[in-house]
Amino acid sequence: MTTLAIVGAGEGLGAAVARRFGAEGFSVALLARRQDRLDKLVTDLKDVNSRGYAADVLNAEELAWALERAANDLGPIEVLQYSPLPQRQFLKPVLETTVEEAREAFEFSVAGPMTAVNQVLPGMRERGRGSILFVNGGSGARPNPKVGGTSIAFAGEGAYGQMLHETLGAEGVHVGQLIIPGAIEPDETAELAGKLWRMHCERGEFRVVHTR
Ligand SMILES: NC(=O)c1ccc[n+]([C@@H]2O[C@H](COP(=O)([O-])OP(=O)(O)OC[C@H]3O[C@@H](n4cnc5c(N)ncnc54)[C@H](OP(=O)(O)O)[C@@H]3O)[C@@H](O)[C@H]2O)c1
Repeated sequence: MTTLAIVGAGEGLGAAVARRFGAEGFSVALLARRQDRLDKLVTDLKDVNSRGYAADVLNAEELAWALERAANDLGPIEVLQYSPLPQRQFLKPVLETTVEEAREAFEFSVAGPMTAVNQVLPGMRERGRGSILFVNGGSGARPNPKVGGTSIAFAGEGAYGQMLHETLGAEGVHVGQLIIPGAIEPDETAELAGKLWRMHCERGEFRVVHTR
């Protein structure tokens, strides 16, 4: 069985992506901080073979361990999606963003992805296939002074992803980034999940921008 791991999975985009990949035969590992919410999500996703693993992306050990258990339980992780919903303190105007908040945003959006990638990439490279998909808001494409923390940190996440894209494409591992400007409306999650599915299948450019 082939597995999708969603790091930062909730009722919105996470659930829609789990349904989309689940319909294609993937098992789905759902990672987020709250086990009770993950358990509810697993129950809601009744047609998908899914399991929830509690982990905070700010805790590298916890994140790596959750991904290791997921692969042991469900099978090798062939698709990794990194999409935790940024915390409020990363969404403050640039002049109100403290150094500590910027540092934490870096941990959330750069160190977290690096930990997750380091955990799953050796297996992907061994098998010669896999996809790593980053999901970011509009400040991932263009810094927005209204959201200082994510603008600073998403720039690093995008640079990391772009470099991985250039380094790993020839080995069969696709790395992509979906940029979603503005708020996600509940009725567009299925469309966004379809985009992520196509990014995995078509292995095109690094960055895909969602337009409405
Ligand atoms: N929602 C929007 O309007 C919007 C707009 C543009 C882009 N995006 C992007 O879309 C993705 C999220 O989609 P969504 O909003 O529909 O979210 P979702 O899939 O409904 O849920 C994301 C989950 O991330 C988890 N999370 C937050 N902080 C975490 C942490 N420190 N460690 C582990 N998990 C964490 C939360 O669960 P716990 O609280 O249980 O940890 C949350 O349920 C993100 O990449 C975001 O940048 C969202």
